[in-house]
Amino acid sequence: MKSIIITQFGGPDVLKVVNVPNLDTLKNEVLIEVKASGINRSDILQREGKYAAPAENSIIIPGLEVAGVIVACGSEVTRFKIGDKVCALLSGGGYSQFVTVNEGQCLSVPSGLGFIEAASLPETIFTVWSNVFERGHIQSGETLLVHGGSSGIGITAIQIAHALGIKVVTTVGSKSKADFCYELGADLCINYKIQDFERELKNEGVDVILDMRGGDYFQKNLNILNKEGRLIHINSEGGDKVELSIWEIMTKRLTITGSTLRDRDYRYKTQLANAVYQNVWSLIESGCFKPVVYKTFPYWDVIEAHRCLEKGEHIGKVMLSWD
Ligand SMILES: NC(=O)c1ccc[n+]([C@@H]2O[C@H](COP(=O)([O-])OP(=O)(O)OC[C@H]3O[C@@H](n4cnc5c(N)ncnc54)[C@H](OP(=O)(O)O)[C@@H]3O)[C@@H](O)[C@H]2O)c1
Repeated sequence: MKSIIITQFGGPDVLKVVNVPNLDTLKNEVLIEVKASGINRSDILQREGKYAAPAENSIIIPGLEVAGVIVACGSEVTRFKIGDKVCALLSGGGYSQFVTVNEGQCLSVPSGLGFIEAASLPETIFTVWSNVFERGHIQSGETLLVHGGSSGIGITAIQIAHALGIKVVTTVGSKSKADFCYELGADLCINYKIQDFERELKNEGVDVILDMRGGDYFQKNLNILNKEGRLIHINSEGGDKVELSIWEIMTKRLTITGSTLRDRDYRYKTQLANAVYQNVWSLIESGCFKPVVYKTFPYWDVIEAHRCLEKGEHIGKVMLSWD
């Protein structure tokens, strides 16, 4: 089978299509013939040597999400059968013609969606559900600030939160991205290149913040959180080391948390898949949540696909097709 590997850490040119041995399924795994793979910022960080894959997973084949058709099932698989169309959350290895994954990390392709759209869903939906809704305990009527509203994560958080009655504020880098986020349901978009989000939000405040910047956003985030507010980190692209006033946390009764999804075990991911299925799949099937695919590249053009994401003009997801 064909896979795309990281030949060494570096720029997009280090990605290469190679032939690798076929995969065997373990008892509780399915074998998926992949039709589409999602590209995420994490793949770029892995390629650059800044985000190591968990030890037990493919260290050189990136890819955290796919959609395709099940072509084999392990002896203990109960929920799916050969021929089922599924999308799946992976810990790596998704840039491949075939993948094996625990059945608990698979979800049926939502009705009405093709493989490209379905493959764009798992990584961002699982991340947003686990962080904003499970860790952040956000409630209808509260206000969520999502940094990077046009990112894969952003378009997901905006749509789910809006559909569940949460007021959504977001930061974006251009007017066209703001316009798009308003269409998705954002209540307020702040262009972080020309506006200071802290100044814009300090009067009304927010209850939950989903942040991937860290750095100088940390104190600004704390300053605009309401009492009992929750600050949730999913990356620290703007800086990892920050100064913290414990007194401020105490007096505002804040919660500061964060997580990485990739290294969680299959039990957690199975439980999360169930929660996503119960809470988000119906939003997709009723049209309240629409996948946002910016551009799809054939697998052999993966270098251009990575360049596209790095350029930063995208709104939503960049995808690979294996058809
Ligand atoms: N911890 C986890 O489990 C987990 C899981 C998934 C993703 N993540 C993280 O989530 C982040 C988003 O991932 P993705 O794949 O959705 O990325 P992406 O589509 O490449 O988007 C990156 C986003 O960052 C925004 N951005 C850059 N500088 C900014 C700034 N100063 N202020 C506000 N926004 C800024 C960009 O906004 P503009 O284009 O408007 O400039 C863009 O929307 C990444 O950092 C990724 O590592 C973490």
